Amino acid sequence: MTENDFVPKGSTSLPMDGKVRYKAPSNIALVKYWGKKENQIPANPSISFTLDACATTTALSYKRSEKLLDSFSLELFFEGKLKEDFKPKIITFFERIEKYVPFLKEYHWKIETSNSFPHSSGIASSASGMAALALCLLSVEKSGNPEMSEDYFNQKASFLARLGSGSACRSIEGDLIQWGHTPGIPGSTNLFGVTYPFEVHQNFKNYHDTILLVHKGQKTVSSTVGHELMYGHLYAEKRFEQAHQNLEKLKKIFGSGDLDAFIEIVESEALTLHAMMMTSLPYFILMKPNTLEIINRIWSFRLATKTPICFTLDAGANVHVLYPESHKAKCIQFIQDELVAYCENGHYICDRIGKGAQRLVVDQQ
Ligand code: DP6
Repeated sequence: MTENDFVPKGSTSLPMDGKVRYKAPSNIALVKYWGKKENQIPANPSISFTLDACATTTALSYKRSEKLLDSFSLELFFEGKLKEDFKPKIITFFERIEKYVPFLKEYHWKIETSNSFPHSSGIASSASGMAALALCLLSVEKSGNPEMSEDYFNQKASFLARLGSGSACRSIEGDLIQWGHTPGIPGSTNLFGVTYPFEVHQNFKNYHDTILLVHKGQKTVSSTVGHELMYGHLYAEKRFEQAHQNLEKLKKIFGSGDLDAFIEIVESEALTLHAMMMTSLPYFILMKPNTLEIINRIWSFRLATKTPICFTLDAGANVHVLYPESHKAKCIQFIQDELVAYCENGHYICDRIGKGAQRLVVDQQ
């Protein structure tokens, strides 16, 4: 497939007005996307667990304008309040996708969005937010083209979401999503996320992710800036190679259910991501002292109890604690007894692997 497959062909009759609503989850990468080429093409492939509890719900209302507008007409509400400062990001997104959603200037758009997690939790809402908006827009196109297949719908939704934020392309479907071309995964592409095509061992079903909110403030360096710092980075090429190798290793692990091998890859990926930040120029550190305290506690607990619990990190200080369903009770007890003390105001979110985005009836909460 190429980008051109996502340019609508022929004329369709689109509705005069309407409203649509989607809930899209966040995701947590096991092999990390860090570094990109032009047009949101990833420098290396990545794979993630789709989450369940952390999600964005977006309602999109639209009304056809009497004439073609010369700029985008949109209003944006976040958690019920008009949010002018979120608009530039949406306008950039609309500019990037206009070729594939050619009716954007034919409508007035009202976007009402909210997150299931607190805005100032340090959890990025760009993945779930862009995925929910892409799904809403595509469902407007689908209403003029009801024959659109489910596969094409999911691919194009992921493709559009990617143009808003790379990791958002992994937030359309569940439960294990791969993005970026790599020879060992048939169907893998840089254009959109695909569901992992091989059998996955029972050990990885219903996997848990408890997100420890170590630092809820704004990050000092955004992901977008971090990605840019991979241009000309001394270790970039080796890192990109390593991501392909780790995906290849994970293929065996997902088949065999080998949790020790899984832990080794996942933790190494998290630390490599942060090592790339620390070795870029300018260098930066997003971990906080409590991030390291938590990592050390997890390592001691794992060694002492042989529990297959591990951590991963996003581009921030919060820690995602991953563990299988079969060890849930023991892990939650450990988190409460030993880790919650390192969270800002004791806050954490219990999440787990999920099935992907859902269309909601318009007035459903
Ligand atoms: C560390 O998808 O937020 O979470 O494409 O610039 O929007 P943009 O970046 P973004 O980067 C996510 C980086 C990461 C790793 C990952 O999710 O794979």
